[in-house]
Amino acid sequence: MIPELAETKTAIESKSNGRKPAIGVVLGSGLGSFADQLEDAVKIPYAGIPGFRPTSVPGHAGQLMIGSLRGKTLAVLQGRSHIYEGCTAAEVAFPIRALGVIGVKTLMTTCAAGGINSQLRVGSLMAIEDHINFTGDNPLIGRGSSEAGNVKFLDMTQAYSSRLLEKLTVASDKLKLGLRRGVYMAVTGPNYETPSETKAMAWLGADAIGMSVVPEVLVARHLGMEVAGLAVITNLAAGISGRRLSHDEVLETTRKVSENFNKLLEEFIANL
Ligand code: HPA
Repeated sequence: MIPELAETKTAIESKSNGRKPAIGVVLGSGLGSFADQLEDAVKIPYAGIPGFRPTSVPGHAGQLMIGSLRGKTLAVLQGRSHIYEGCTAAEVAFPIRALGVIGVKTLMTTCAAGGINSQLRVGSLMAIEDHINFTGDNPLIGRGSSEAGNVKFLDMTQAYSSRLLEKLTVASDKLKLGLRRGVYMAVTGPNYETPSETKAMAWLGADAIGMSVVPEVLVARHLGMEVAGLAVITNLAAGISGRRLSHDEVLETTRKVSENFNKLLEEFIANL
């Protein structure tokens, strides 16, 4: 264990009232309201956790919440850092290492994304079934097999668990939310894509595009966690509708969809 992680573990455990979350959730842009449903939650601001960076983007609260929902104990990261904020993929994904060290075994990571596939609409929910890392960075660079159980050349054949994908689908069917499945492509941002980039990404096999998720999933898989991903399609990717893209539109869509998003996540977690 690297020393900083030991400090991180101590800092979190000293504030978590002895609770041992086995499920971790990362809440993306504008999706933080899910955490309001937690019962008996403790809130630990990122500023108080060694190795965590305070979030700087509107829509990201920047706190770790540990609490329960439908009989499950959860560790919820309300907000995340991004590569475009000036940090490396390894720094972005550090909170996932923290979740690992406090005992999280299952990770659900969520995000806002731009829809590329014509089946996706603004407001669609998309289960991530695979990803394309187009960020040019990787949080596993420099990580050998020295951490117990980790491998140097990580297999990514099934990064997103088909078991969890099925559970998400069952939850969506029950609630009639019309969940889609697709491939998420990650870029660094901070600018949105050009229309030509949208075409190129479609050609490369991407269904949706965003600026997060991938560093976290790489670290989670390296630590042996079972992973699921859920994207809210907040806008169509540049060039599809001809409209200009803005973070305000992203937040506006997440606000409208958050009720369905929260219900889906709750139903999924209840049946884990
Ligand atoms: N592109 C990249 N990231 C995004 C988008 C987009 O269109 N929408 C939300 N996050």
